Amino acid sequence: MRIFRADVLSLHSNMGNGIYGLNSKSGGTVHMPVMVSEVLKAFESTPEGWIIDGTFGLGGHSSALLERYPDRKVFGIDLDADSLAMSQGGFQKFNNRILLANGNYANMTILAQEADIGPVAGILLDLGLSSMQLETLGRGFSFRNDEMLDMRYNQTKGVPAAELVNTFDRDQLIDIFSNFGEEKAARRIAKAVCQNRPILTTGKLAQIVEKTIGRTGKSRRHPATKVFQALRIAVNQEFENINKGLSSGLDLLVNNGKFVVLTYHSLEDRIVKQFFKKESLDCICSTRIPFCVCDHHPRLRIVTKKVKIPTIEEVTINPRSRSAKLRIVEKIA
Ligand SMILES: C[S@@+](CC[C@H](N)C(=O)[O-])C[C@H]1O[C@@H](n2cnc3c(N)ncnc32)[C@H](O)[C@@H]1O
Repeated sequence: MRIFRADVLSLHSNMGNGIYGLNSKSGGTVHMPVMVSEVLKAFESTPEGWIIDGTFGLGGHSSALLERYPDRKVFGIDLDADSLAMSQGGFQKFNNRILLANGNYANMTILAQEADIGPVAGILLDLGLSSMQLETLGRGFSFRNDEMLDMRYNQTKGVPAAELVNTFDRDQLIDIFSNFGEEKAARRIAKAVCQNRPILTTGKLAQIVEKTIGRTGKSRRHPATKVFQALRIAVNQEFENINKGLSSGLDLLVNNGKFVVLTYHSLEDRIVKQFFKKESLDCICSTRIPFCVCDHHPRLRIVTKKVKIPTIEEVTINPRSRSAKLRIVEKIA
């Protein structure tokens, strides 16, 4: 998937399949990574090896990691080639300590093999979308602008949100709005969507949702927030990717390596929490069975017994961090 312009990112000649070394000369983008000091601390005492940043975005966390730990190398992965291309200017100083792949973190095992990076001592997943993606015109993630309903992290693959909205039947839409958005009015909204097709833009969809359920109480949240979240998750198959990414990441990590995950809503946090909990147990048998028959072995130790959240100071400076939850685990033998 080579969608970088040669003048933006020059490819290392021995790298194939969308894996790039950064050695370009153009400028960087200002960006505020979430809970960065907590993330840095999480990787403080990891064994030797690479850190995989599976959601590289604009490279805020990666850049902080490379600055703080001069003996570390980072392998950054992102589905969004634009994000990778935008961030590269700030990374040229790290030379061969940074490698990038335009791909899915769910496939990190294959990507790491193709890049031939060797032992992996740490993995970071900062889930969801970046402020840049939310705010950039033409990405179709936000109802603040009226634009084509797209919502794909990788705009060269998959189907845009408009296709789901205009072709899925009412029951499929109800499932999406309730399962991925916990939207209580899923039925009414799905009915209104079906009655008002075609819906091609973010503005039209937001209007339909607002007209159907109105604004509730004093909430400052737009009534279409949950519907937009649900569609984004469906379009990008986010939950499937999280499950695959957690599983392949845990396989990849060396013993005592750290897995660090930042989530932004309860649904994705639940998946991460349950995965980590299950992998930390020495028995996963049903409580109805009087003795253990599962032969399950714990593969990790939970470091953050209590989930970490950002400080009030951070939320004041960076409101996007307000819903963040940080979970850290350590792989065990
Ligand atoms: C919250 S942002 C990460 C921001 C980043 N930590 C930084 O400091 O700039 C999430 C990023 O993950 C990417 N992303 C989402 N799902 C992905 C997936 N399955 N594989 C790879 N990247 C993904 C998005 O394109 C977005 O750039």
